[in-house]
Amino acid sequence: MSLSVIILAAGQGTRMRSSKPKVLHQIGGKAMLQRVLDNAHSLKADHVHVVYGHGAEQVLETIQDSDIKWVMQAEQLGTGHAVGQAMPGIADDETVLILYGDVPLTRTKTLESLIEAAASGVGLLTVILGDPTGYGRIIRNDSGQVLAIVEEKDASEEQKRIAEGNTGMMAVNGGLLRRWLSRLDNSNAQAEYYLTDIIAMAVSDGVTVNAVQADSVIEVSGVNNRIQLAEMERALQRRHAEEAMTAGATLADPARFDLRGELSVGEDATIDINVVFEGKVSLGNGVSIGPNCYLKNATLADDVHILANTVIEDAVIGAGSRIGPFARIRPDTELKGNNHIGNFVEIKKSIIGEGSKVNHLTYIGDTIMGRDVNIGAGTITANYDGANKYQTIIEDNASTGSNSVLIAPVKVGKGATLGAATVLRKEAAEGQLTMSMIKQKTIEGWKRPVKKT
Ligand code: UD1
Ligand code: CA
Repeated sequence: MSLSVIILAAGQGTRMRSSKPKVLHQIGGKAMLQRVLDNAHSLKADHVHVVYGHGAEQVLETIQDSDIKWVMQAEQLGTGHAVGQAMPGIADDETVLILYGDVPLTRTKTLESLIEAAASGVGLLTVILGDPTGYGRIIRNDSGQVLAIVEEKDASEEQKRIAEGNTGMMAVNGGLLRRWLSRLDNSNAQAEYYLTDIIAMAVSDGVTVNAVQADSVIEVSGVNNRIQLAEMERALQRRHAEEAMTAGATLADPARFDLRGELSVGEDATIDINVVFEGKVSLGNGVSIGPNCYLKNATLADDVHILANTVIEDAVIGAGSRIGPFARIRPDTELKGNNHIGNFVEIKKSIIGEGSKVNHLTYIGDTIMGRDVNIGAGTITANYDGANKYQTIIEDNASTGSNSVLIAPVKVGKGATLGAATVLRKEAAEGQLTMSMIKQKTIEGWKRPVKKT
């Protein structure tokens, strides 16, 4: 049967105290609404309808997804009214799953059970709560059948003692939903059109309500303020940490682990505290990451050791390399393997051949470096003349003296050696020692280069 998902996301979220609509606040580096959409997609929904209202422009700008049917709810008159706005786009013979843009951590398998429960009636996701305050309460008869949902504000003292709460998520046939929504009224404590009222209508029409209880409160919890946002973030990170540990990584402290993307780990990887992973990161077997590192879109082969306070972005690190402490590997860099990159070294858009070392206080940019090169402390590739960038080539077994400046475009030949403080403007000959000693002078009428068009 065809599946349509309706995501309610029109509310303002006043308690976030934000100029950003609530559903755009992020969990694990991704907007909450995007997480709910990902869930809908992983259920292989045929259609996804998002009911939006507050912060409409920002929502449309942030969530770029051509498969969504956007439904505007200009005035928020209640959850039943919100679902009603999407109904013109819903067919009678499909299953409709109702989700919420501010409930980001629901597991796919929970939603699958809910959809299954809708095959023989209405599927209703409920949860047992330590403190059910604020939730609609599930009213059952003596034989345990669900009869109705009563909102907190409409509940009697006795009903308020019921621990089973309504998560708001449900799955229901499109035709039945349409019929029941048309019968809603707003004669209740909040003068809202309650979606929850359809449960009693189902019962009076002889349709069974199949309650599915969620395993954990967190997967059905919504976010109303930044305290709950932080709790949700930690819950997600705990899940991520457990996945990493299950895959073979040792975490110094799962509570100080942050993944905002996807991480794959090899066996016996170790991750120290306060490491942030972003985008797609892959760690080979035996990799270790020291404290306070930031890795974004990086692939680390086996036995790579990243020492404290290192930043790596859009780079591939070959096996057996050691990087840091305090190193920065910038985009489009590839280390071929067994490299040593030391403190206060920045490498950008460069290829570093197998076994080459760049140990101290160096900038390497737009460079192709061969094997077994040794770069002396303080070596700089001057790749930029203020307007354009140029390439440096350093061939196998070359060695640069401390404080050398390689003014690109320039080449250091195979096995060439540069004396300390060489300012290299022309090719350093293969196998020779090259030095430059220029007396200080001022060039009259010199002009800065202009950008090439
Ligand atoms: C709702 C349920 C309650 C349940 C609780 C779980 C109803 C009447 N009550 O109560 O039984 O225990 O969720 O959190 O459904 N929204 C719209 N448009 C509207 C109204 C709401 O998009 O017109 C969205 C809100 O942005 C929010 C969600 O629907 O994300 C829930 O609405 P809210 O008013 O917060 O419902 P609750 O009072 O929490
Ligand atoms: Ca709510």
